[in-house]
Amino acid sequence: MNIKLLGATVLALATLLFNPVWAEDAPAVDRTATGGAQTLEDIMARQQQLKVDESFRSENLGDPASAAAITEQLGTRGGVSDSDTWRGIRYNENDIKTQARGPAANVLIQDGGMPWYQLREGPIITYGGGALLGIIILLVVFYFVRGKIMIDGGPSGTKIERFKAIERFGHWLLAGSFIALALTGLLTLMGRSFLIPVIGHEAYSTLAVGSKWLHNNVAWAFMLGLVMTFCMWVVHNIPNKLDWQWIKAGGGIFSKSHPSSKKFNAGQKIIFWTVMILGVSVSLSGLSLLFPFEMPMFAGTFSTVNGIFGTDFPTALTPHEEMQYANIWHSIVAFAMMVAIIAHIYIGSVGMEGAFDAMGNGEVDLEWARQHHDLWVAEVEAKQGKGGSS
Ligand code: HEM
Repeated sequence: MNIKLLGATVLALATLLFNPVWAEDAPAVDRTATGGAQTLEDIMARQQQLKVDESFRSENLGDPASAAAITEQLGTRGGVSDSDTWRGIRYNENDIKTQARGPAANVLIQDGGMPWYQLREGPIITYGGGALLGIIILLVVFYFVRGKIMIDGGPSGTKIERFKAIERFGHWLLAGSFIALALTGLLTLMGRSFLIPVIGHEAYSTLAVGSKWLHNNVAWAFMLGLVMTFCMWVVHNIPNKLDWQWIKAGGGIFSKSHPSSKKFNAGQKIIFWTVMILGVSVSLSGLSLLFPFEMPMFAGTFSTVNGIFGTDFPTALTPHEEMQYANIWHSIVAFAMMVAIIAHIYIGSVGMEGAFDAMGNGEVDLEWARQHHDLWVAEVEAKQGKGGSS
């Protein structure tokens, strides 16, 4: 499938979460008493974080016709008042010229900052942090209910090569960088709420500066790891009919059976594609944050999505709104990845006997391989029978 389209779809789904449409609409207000200007109800509704229809202000920028007619009598601005000018600036209707150069230099007022900040400090931390705790609790419960998945009959003692050194290097580059990014990302997002009260501003400041430096630079290793693992493993992760059988058998997790599988089973394919798709998306939004205002992606993505699904996402975004969307999206995708990866780490280490060796020294026990990847073992043995190697 077209990666851009896929990214756009995933992006749109998260936008539903972020777009200030999460706020309820404020009740309609009669503004005749104020001559169409703001009322106390408007101010109160905004304080209650209701979504106020601002068109009564954004479309009230003075009457250009009358302004032009009386310009000469009243000076340069004619019939346009100070309020008209400030409203024009706020709603990006004025043609601003500044001496400062830069992609967002001519945005003098932007009011997306507060909703963005509240979303980041509120629901993102609460739901994101909650999801991480949730998956950890779930895995602990799973461990006590199901126990470690053992090799039936014990290990055979014979080894079979599962991953070559270059594959393990790609995996650990991806894994090491992801873990570093996850920790430094969480520190940046949650430090203000959870660390400053404990270690104080000065210590946190040093930690935050180091964390940001690490996060920005380790990101390149993650992207390299992503490309490497994609190239090496994509052929083994194309979905096929067998995956459906594996899913129907629940991976044999509770029935303690061993559904057939080639090199990667359906569960692993799900992890692979989650890592690849979300990995590309987190990288793109990360690049957009790394090069502020230079890689805006949301307006374009929204118009593609609107074109396909007939949705109504905003397609005219200010440079700051682009950054705010990128930031929120980056966190949502990162949390989704962390949840999947915590489950992956569990099953690749304490959750399953013999699994870690595959990425440890590259060789797994033959009995483990027969039980979890029978068709792959058959393929390798057939090749070796013909004098080839795995
Ligand atoms: C300490 C952390 C980790 C451990 C112990 C671990 C362990 C493993 C093991 C043992 C395998 C091979 C499974 C097999 O033989 O079939 C594997 C595969 C894989 N790992 Fe990890 N891993 C870790 C972290 C990560 C991270 C952070 C990522 C990505 C961000 C990742 C992505 C993958 C992918 C895409 C595969 C191939 C598909 C799959 O087997 O699910 N791993 N990992």
